[in-house]
Amino acid sequence: MQAEHPTKLLIVDDLPENLQALNAVIRGDGRQIFQAGSGEEALALLLQHDFAMAFLDVQMPGMDGFELAELMRGTERTRQIPIVFVTAAGKELNYSFKGYEAGAVDVLYKPLDSRAVRSKVEVFVALYEQREATRAQVRALELARQKQEATLAELNAAQAQLQRALAMRDEFMSMVSHEMRTPLNTLYLETQLRKMQLERGNMAAFGAEQLQRMVARDDRQIQSIIRLIDDMLDVSRIRSGKLSLRPGWVELSGLLRRVVHDLTPQAATAGCTISLEADTPVSGWWDEFRIEQIVVNLLTNALRYGAQRPVAVTLVVEQDVARVEVRDQGPGIDPEQQQKIFEPYERGVGNEVPAGLGLGLYISRELAEVHEGTLTVSSTPGEGAVFTLTLPRRDAPPA
Ligand SMILES: Nc1ncnc2c1ncn2[C@@H]1O[C@H](COP(=O)(O)OP(=O)(O)OP(=O)(O)O)[C@@H](O)[C@H]1O
Ligand SMILES: [Mg+2]
Repeated sequence: MQAEHPTKLLIVDDLPENLQALNAVIRGDGRQIFQAGSGEEALALLLQHDFAMAFLDVQMPGMDGFELAELMRGTERTRQIPIVFVTAAGKELNYSFKGYEAGAVDVLYKPLDSRAVRSKVEVFVALYEQREATRAQVRALELARQKQEATLAELNAAQAQLQRALAMRDEFMSMVSHEMRTPLNTLYLETQLRKMQLERGNMAAFGAEQLQRMVARDDRQIQSIIRLIDDMLDVSRIRSGKLSLRPGWVELSGLLRRVVHDLTPQAATAGCTISLEADTPVSGWWDEFRIEQIVVNLLTNALRYGAQRPVAVTLVVEQDVARVEVRDQGPGIDPEQQQKIFEPYERGVGNEVPAGLGLGLYISRELAEVHEGTLTVSSTPGEGAVFTLTLPRRDAPPA
């Protein structure tokens, strides 16, 4: 430690031979002696280095030792440095008194007693080194404390996150159970009913027409369970980065016509209509199944949350992109909710309509983004919402 950080001592005297003599007396292992020929020179050194102590000659032309001491006491950086005055004047001048007043720890008279000087230096150097060591310890302690504090904060954050995750898992479980239970309950009631009819020998209940309606009802319940499971699978694919596309040439206006046609019965049940404006055919290198999934999600939302008012689908074809807009005239979405609804399990609050799992928009936006497209919403509360899917047009399959 000594070699890396030598203890620095300052001696100030206008006579080079005095400097040399004092230097010879106080030098030692692990010490570095700095010499200054004037008060000004000494000040320059004092601003650059930390000294364990300073020997000041009292009588110097220009700034004398006392003046230099006064400046040192007035400066934060040098205030603590022990000062020893050296003077050739006779004791009768009473420099001691003035020296101690100026903040000196000692006043020495020439000729100097080498042994006394050396032992004084030893004491002050030892004090200085001790103080430095304590300071280093305090610094290290403070650093350790700061580290500990940071670790604690990290730990707290991790715990909070864990708690949130646990709460979310519980909520998710109850949500999924509920969502699964509804179609399963209906299916169960249907089978109970049929069992009863069979037991009573009521075969009229199984006529061709009735059977057809039964199958259609069962199909709806089964489809909604499959959709739920597929959504959850998609989320875990997204989370693990395994969501991949199976792209091919897709003609978008035809796809929209088909989806709108397929959803028309559902719209009728919901008490509303879907209009479509998609006159320009546009082909792109996309994943047909996934694009359909996005449009279905947006349309199901518009039917569900659109207050039974007409829903409009528009296809806009531009040079580089194709845009699908799904517009409803429902209550719309508050500005602070508009980003949140794209997060997983984020379902609207205060909706009159019971919401789903809150996965549709999350999955849809991810699907848009793996296509290098976007899915955005714009809405003025009270005036409905417009969801816009933008897809890049590509002339050739990407590499
Ligand atoms: N067209 C819309 N108008 C008003 N609010 C909407 C609309 N579309 C979505 N939202 C709000 O955004 C929330 C999240 O929608 P998202 O489709 O992600 O989930 P969800 O419909 O609740 O459930 P899921 O789609 O998984 O069945 C909805 O719960 C609803 O509150
Ligand atoms: Mg939805």
